[in-house]
Amino acid sequence: MTDVSPELQAKLDLLDSKWEQAKAGGGAARIERHHAHGKLTARERIDLLLDPGSFVELDAFVVHQCRDFGMEEQQVLGDGVVTGYGTVDDRPIYVFAQDFTVFGGSLSGAYARKICKVMDLAVRNGAPVVGLNDSGGARIQEGVVSLGGYADIFLRNTLASGVVPQLSAILGPCAGGAVYSPAITDFIAMVEGSSYMFVTGPDVIKTVTHEEVDKESLGGASAHGARSGVSHFSVPDEPTCMALMRELLSFMPSNNVEDAPIVATDDAWDRPTTELVGAVPANPNKPYDIRDIIKSVADDHHFLEVQDMYAMNIIIGFLRIEGRSIGVVANQPQHLAGCLDVNSSIKAARFVRFCDAFNIPLLTLVDVPGFLPGTQQEWGGIIKHGAKLLYAFAEATVPKITLITRKAYGGAYDVMNSKHIRADVNLAYPAAEIAVMGADGAVNIIFRRELKEAEDPEAKRAELVADYRETFANPYKAAELGYIDRVIRPEDTRKELAQAFRMTRGKRDTNPPKKHGNIPL
Ligand code: HXC
Repeated sequence: MTDVSPELQAKLDLLDSKWEQAKAGGGAARIERHHAHGKLTARERIDLLLDPGSFVELDAFVVHQCRDFGMEEQQVLGDGVVTGYGTVDDRPIYVFAQDFTVFGGSLSGAYARKICKVMDLAVRNGAPVVGLNDSGGARIQEGVVSLGGYADIFLRNTLASGVVPQLSAILGPCAGGAVYSPAITDFIAMVEGSSYMFVTGPDVIKTVTHEEVDKESLGGASAHGARSGVSHFSVPDEPTCMALMRELLSFMPSNNVEDAPIVATDDAWDRPTTELVGAVPANPNKPYDIRDIIKSVADDHHFLEVQDMYAMNIIIGFLRIEGRSIGVVANQPQHLAGCLDVNSSIKAARFVRFCDAFNIPLLTLVDVPGFLPGTQQEWGGIIKHGAKLLYAFAEATVPKITLITRKAYGGAYDVMNSKHIRADVNLAYPAAEIAVMGADGAVNIIFRRELKEAEDPEAKRAELVADYRETFANPYKAAELGYIDRVIRPEDTRKELAQAFRMTRGKRDTNPPKKHGNIPL
């Protein structure tokens, strides 16, 4: 051991004491109060998120520059946000964690600069950013400096979008314009009972609209998980939230020029999916759970569903086949018969764009009777919102594989990753029905006169419906035209999909050069 001179020892002691001060955050009493609310501190959260011992903290000694309202007397090292880098499953991750024990986690100019620094480093080094949000919003004492700080972060969120994955965990309040940073990120997870997001809180709402609502109903995890679709995951507690962040990251590459990591599995690529024989009911009006098919084809039957409480007529999420990450978009016949509507189109479109931005191949499972009819949908803009999904699938250049399990009717057939919008391999089950519409509707329209003039209209209708079914309610017309590449047996589903993804691994496709497209927003 080298001898340490007294001068050096004093300097080392000073360093130690600064670290001690920084780690104390807002002090023992506030930490105790924070814990009493069932919440973890910023550093405890980071420890759960990152691989043990991997966290390297930056800017721990930064202090705010505010000289108003006696703030010069209240300096806390780190200024209410813990930032730095570490690893998740040995891959680099940049992180910021807002510390509610320091000025309620509110954002100052110095605090914003700390966040901007890790975001800039993340983009420059091609690594994801995870934000752990728990803040009273703009630091009121700093005024416009704080607003400017938020805008600096929003700009970086936007520029980093599609370059590195950005994840947000909401672990406490997230109010005012502060919600817009998480909103630009790729995925938001909220903890039930302790997190909330809103642009204007209950008091302002009461003043302006006389509406009475508590903060949980207004902007809690279930409000955003099930009603607004702002959040993607609701979790019961903070440790589950950090485990979810880790799992989510495992499905993603570190940046837009890499591929997602391969996760070893013992699940054979050609495992027969015999459980799928008969999984799709022969009666076209009988519902079933499309997740049964998703789980059956996935490695180890593992599926990470995204937005499972919102627009449940479409299912989105991640699975792996042969250890490789795949994004799934699937109509869900159990809800609204699997129709596409405004919310499901928006939900799926953003997911498709995420996968495309980050080189994650897409699997589309189709069982769709069409777009949901009604004034609510038309006036709600189903034309422009449905167009989002069409646009997203059409512009995507990642490997795109489609399996029609049952119905593919009308415009929804085109939208759901059809051959015509550059899908690579299009498969169908033998019971698939690919047509402009269902047999009953079609017969009512094209045989209106015959039905009116028939002696026994019901018998005539039954005959015509049976005839239409035989002619169109099958996959073979589409297969004759090459719109369907293969009609497959349900027990071969995993094997067929594995082969299709394997054969498209080297895919290179591009879109015409442009500044950016103009997706119907
Ligand atoms: C400075 C703040 C603060 C803020 C909280 N604190 N919010 N300090 N600026 N925005 C401080 C409190 O003074 C207190 O300090 C400590 O944080 C904890 O706050 P409490 O109120 O005791 O906690 P709690 O009861 O849990 O309530 C939390 C809260 C509430 C709901 C977040 O504090 C609150 O409503 N804060 C104001 C929220 C707000 O209006 N923010 C501005 C939004 S506008 P001590 O010393 O007692 O521990 C905005 C614009 C962004 O953000 C625009 C971006 C474009």
